[in-house]
Amino acid sequence: MRRMLGIPVIRWTLLGALAVILAGCAYAGWGWQGAAAPREFRSNGERIYFTATSERGTPITADMGMGMMGGGMMGGGTMSCVNCHGPDGRGGRVRMMMRTFVAPDIRYKTLTEEKMEHEGEEEHPPYTDETIKRAITQGVDPAGEPLEWPMPRWSMSDEDLEDLLDYLKSLE
Ligand code: HEC
Repeated sequence: MRRMLGIPVIRWTLLGALAVILAGCAYAGWGWQGAAAPREFRSNGERIYFTATSERGTPITADMGMGMMGGGMMGGGTMSCVNCHGPDGRGGRVRMMMRTFVAPDIRYKTLTEEKMEHEGEEEHPPYTDETIKRAITQGVDPAGEPLEWPMPRWSMSDEDLEDLLDYLKSLE
């Protein structure tokens, strides 16, 4: 036992360093950690998707419900579509505010598919340009049913909403 003593000390030191690095990453963003890191964007729609800011300078805000506002800078981190729906728009499991939920695939082609099969959920007609915009701003699906809590209700200009929709159309 005695000759092993040195090794655990080194292990703990490494673990400590790792914890510091991980904590740093967690601070940089929510959900898809670091996905919203500053970068060049090919379009305003892409910029909105990743940062919830418009190159027009027009405000973009998110009403998270429960009196919480998001969008743009929030608590030192940026909260935008990417944090839940992922860098490729395909969604997935998200951990946020000590809860876990699944964000859906919001690529345009998926949303507008003839048959949207959500297991255990009620069917609704495929999305159209208009109902996608309505889902983003009012949080209702094509059948008029409210979307669940984690999906914020977004406020942005019509032009910005159009750019964002174009970006969803560009996702493969
Ligand atoms: C905090 C996490 C979160 C953020 C941020 C977020 N969403 Fe969502 N979104 C969700 C969840 C969860 C759902 C599914 C809600 C449900 O099924 O009732 C959803 C649903 C949607 C839907 C409807 C999809 C469907 O299958 O019915 C669209 C469209 C959508 N989001 C677009 C966006 C866009 C665009 C943004 C950025 C402007 C965004 N979301 C930001 C969590 C988020």
